[in-house]
Amino acid sequence: MSDHSSNQSNENSHQESMLPQWMYWVFAALLIWGGAYLMRYSGGFSGEVYDESTVTYGPVKGGAAAVEDPKVLGARVYKANCAQCHQLTGLGVEGQYPPLAGSEFVLGSEAHVIRILLHGLVGPITVNGKPYNGNMAPWKDVLDDKKISQVLTYIRSDWGNNASAITPEMVAAVRKEEAARSASWTEKELEAAPKVLPK
Ligand code: HEC
Repeated sequence: MSDHSSNQSNENSHQESMLPQWMYWVFAALLIWGGAYLMRYSGGFSGEVYDESTVTYGPVKGGAAAVEDPKVLGARVYKANCAQCHQLTGLGVEGQYPPLAGSEFVLGSEAHVIRILLHGLVGPITVNGKPYNGNMAPWKDVLDDKKISQVLTYIRSDWGNNASAITPEMVAAVRKEEAARSASWTEKELEAAPKVLPK
């Protein structure tokens, strides 16, 4: 009796440690699928591939709207394109890159600041009482209307700045009005250009 029972338990444990062969195939298939999935969708595990502006889910109140906030998206455009010269502080570099914090160019006419971004600015200017004489290249072929509106909305509202938002439609209107232009603006030319937005 005891012989018999020990035999049986041996047999049982032997069987339990074996997986049926079809399961090995299932695991192999899962591994291949998992690897392929990672290659296709991991984006090299880089955070850069995550685009918040495309997120449509989230809490009903505030959530989705918060990530679509042009100020938040504009801050991102600023960090990627402008901060190396104008600095994260918006204070620029004295004698070289003018400040955006407190700048009359930033806080003044919407049409003017859009013109500066689209076509660039060259020659002597005075910002916050200090002279600059540099050259900022145009952004019209680098940033679209939406991104320009976002970055302008951002620089008009950070660092103590408090000016109205700029919409993509405003940028599009100025882009259309100045379509024939190729030269960068000088301060003199800007003064002569209309301060109000084109209809
Ligand atoms: C390579 C350096 C550089 C980068 C990058 C740059 N700028 Fe400028 N920016 C300048 C310089 C230099 C001037 C002044 C030009 C002059 O002296 O006539 C200027 C002038 C300006 C002005 C008008 C003057 C003022 O201080 O208000 C604004 C507004 C401005 N830049 C915004 C931006 C924004 C927004 C970005 C990013 C999309 C940007 N700049 C990226 C160098 C740069």
